[in-house]
Amino acid sequence: MAAESMDKLVALCKRRGFIFQTNEIYGGLQGVYDYGPLGVELKNNLKRAWWNAMVYERDDIEGIDSSILTNPLVLKQSGHEETFSDPLVDCKSCKARIRADHLKDGKCPECGSDDLTDPRPFNLMFKTNVGPIEDGSSFAYLRPETAQQIFTNFKNVIDSTPHHLPFGIAQIGKAFRNEITPRNFIFRVRELEQMEMEFFVRPGEDEKWHKTWTDLRVAWWEKQGINKKSIELLDVPKNELAHYSKATIDIMYKYPHGLEELEGIANRTDFDLGSHTRDQSKLRITAKVDKNTKSNAKLAVQDPETKEWVVPYVIEPAAGVERGVLAVLNEAYRVEELEDGKERTVLSLKPHLSPIKAAVIPLKKNNEDLVNKAKELKNALQSLGLGRVLLENSGNIGKNYRRHDEIGTPICITVDFESLEDGTVTIRDRDTMEQSRLDIASVSDHFKKTIDN
Ligand code: GAP
Repeated sequence: MAAESMDKLVALCKRRGFIFQTNEIYGGLQGVYDYGPLGVELKNNLKRAWWNAMVYERDDIEGIDSSILTNPLVLKQSGHEETFSDPLVDCKSCKARIRADHLKDGKCPECGSDDLTDPRPFNLMFKTNVGPIEDGSSFAYLRPETAQQIFTNFKNVIDSTPHHLPFGIAQIGKAFRNEITPRNFIFRVRELEQMEMEFFVRPGEDEKWHKTWTDLRVAWWEKQGINKKSIELLDVPKNELAHYSKATIDIMYKYPHGLEELEGIANRTDFDLGSHTRDQSKLRITAKVDKNTKSNAKLAVQDPETKEWVVPYVIEPAAGVERGVLAVLNEAYRVEELEDGKERTVLSLKPHLSPIKAAVIPLKKNNEDLVNKAKELKNALQSLGLGRVLLENSGNIGKNYRRHDEIGTPICITVDFESLEDGTVTIRDRDTMEQSRLDIASVSDHFKKTIDN
């Protein structure tokens, strides 16, 4: 199931505290969003799942966390200063500024006029001053992708944490793009978060690894609850490839507003390491790179057998956190008709992604015995370290069940008067709505099994 429209998701996200427009009380800031109490949990859970799969479950990938402010020389050398732009047109009629590929049948989507300027490149990078003098002589970019800092840290990582090819470096972090037309809720934003991994391989083995990583990434999204039927793979046409890419496969997801990119897996060849390497002429670099680098590093590895220096090729799975959050929310959303004619909204999130893992509900609000028993159980479950467990002391069981269905809590546990006598509680399952009695002593095991899926 999925939401019929983006509006339904936007409304749920605001009502339940997942996602808010930033600075809303001052009219907001276009293309920038904040995550609320539940959104931050969902987002962190998705990032944790990615980090587990990329770093903890493998021994050939290391993680880093690099800075956002970037030396302009890096982004000059990477080609971003010259090419990281979108085609911009102005509508002479209503003065709107539009991405040329977002025109509707060649007309302004705002007013329908075809009186438009010719497209011109608009660079998407944000600049900021560094230091106290604001004369433009000292500036930095806010990174437009997390990847460049992985390349510039390549030597630091292999010198401190030796690896032979193939191996990878992973990073999750903010990136900034001055999108001409941010839109579709959190799908296209100006401040985003990326989960990127650069996998360094021997030249010649790149195509094999490109296929392997595409398969691995599709399988990972399935584990996050994305139905394979909601995904299509797009082999990006040659004339649309980014300047660094030899081939890119986009994982396209059926968002409420249409089929769009969720993640791209690019074969970046030796373009980036080659671009940031000094003495390029002494190495075999296949990509066309700017030879005037001011870098002082040799971003290459020595083959342990032949002793030859090799500039590795790079396979890069690059996913957006916002687009991931939107996809898992959309995929989990459903509205069910109940026997009594009423409706319930359910977020069937995979339990490891659910913002609240379990709600413990005393049957009667403020009843000391029930609340104490419920608190004891909440603390026991919380101490397992599987995520947030909530004590709900509001008394209305039916209302609590509806709320927790809508925010995707996998189980609700009700502590009632029987619990005080025989030590059992009622466990209610979000998806089936089935209720069963369980010994309090067995709740931890049941909870662990539910969250581990
Ligand atoms: N390092 C490669 C790179 O940045 P990209 O295709 O430009 O490649 C990677 O971005 C991913 O980042 C995209 O697949 C998408 O999920 C996400 N992304 C890119 N621009 C975005 C934006 N303006 N808003 C939200 N997510 C974005």
